[in-house]
Amino acid sequence: MQLAQPTGAGQQALAVDARGLVKVFGDNRAVDGVDLKIPEGCIYALLGPNGAGKTTIINMLTTLLKPDGGEARVFGHDVARETQVVRQLISVTGQSAAVDERLSATENLVIFGLLLGLSRSDASKRAADLLRDFGLEDASKRTLDKFSGGMRRRLDLAASLIVQAPLIFLDEPTTGLDPRTRVQMWESIRRLVASGSTILLTTQYLDEADQLADRVAVIDHGRVVAEGPPRELKAAIGKATLNLRLADGKDTAEALTVAQRVLNVKASSPEATLVTAPMADPDRVTDLLVALRGAKIRLAGVSVQDPTLDEVFMALTGDSGKEGGTQ
Ligand SMILES: Nc1ncnc2c1ncn2[C@@H]1O[C@H](COP(=O)(O)OP(=O)(O)OP(=O)(O)O)[C@@H](O)[C@H]1O
Ligand SMILES: [Mg+2]
Repeated sequence: MQLAQPTGAGQQALAVDARGLVKVFGDNRAVDGVDLKIPEGCIYALLGPNGAGKTTIINMLTTLLKPDGGEARVFGHDVARETQVVRQLISVTGQSAAVDERLSATENLVIFGLLLGLSRSDASKRAADLLRDFGLEDASKRTLDKFSGGMRRRLDLAASLIVQAPLIFLDEPTTGLDPRTRVQMWESIRRLVASGSTILLTTQYLDEADQLADRVAVIDHGRVVAEGPPRELKAAIGKATLNLRLADGKDTAEALTVAQRVLNVKASSPEATLVTAPMADPDRVTDLLVALRGAKIRLAGVSVQDPTLDEVFMALTGDSGKEGGTQ
């Protein structure tokens, strides 16, 4: 399913332009003809079950794996032929930030900065900024062997951002983080985009893609099975649901009848004072509210519930999520 491009996307500069990417491991076509167009300045999420091929796609785009078919460009540079140029335009998380477990977080980040060619004062400043951004200020003097798993992940991400690259790859940036740290990580990611980077991330959390991504590609069995802004993906799969909360339970049967007649859909009543109906035509809701008032049925509340990305995901990938992957 290919959804409409945003206005002007035809002319928009692309951070990533991949066509027909293929990667075969033995007889496993791990990536099986993937096209990706990632506009500059957006947050783009690859979403898919274990083993779908997300990391393999990233490994090809970051020049770590050579494609067996197709081609990919990063800011116009071919990932297979212009490896060095591409590497200078990207950063990849996942490498461990630990240079030395017995050194502090600050010392490790400063060493990274020096290795990347920053002056000592620039490296120190950058280290301090990053430790603040990632909520590690209090732990800045602690040695890495005393870091928790979540703190380590944050430090890894911080280390990969010492020099902010135009295109940043984040493979499951929030896996294993507690909810508060996850939200902090989202904020850090948004800040990176605000200051000019493009982000390609993978996630298994549908709400994360929903909250964070401008566009999503759903990957299954090495293919893109859906692509577009989260809102459009949701709209394409499911219809919103209208929930009518009744002030008085004795009106339920009549409200159900009125809703079915006016909306011309099958409504249901999952609870005594609740009537729900698929909202095919939003304009008809006004008619329904007028009809309910005419019938002297009082409402305690009205809400509209969008389909969730979970529903989209399940609808598109069937039960393949159960197979599990190797990673
Ligand atoms: N180096 C490798 N050698 C052989 N097979 C591999 C290799 N890397 C990945 N695969 C296979 O390719 C397929 C895609 O794996 P990949 O790691 O890209 O999935 P993923 O979408 O990142 O999954 P996860 O959500 O579990 O991280 C899987 O079937 C995996 O077993
Ligand atoms: Mg992976």
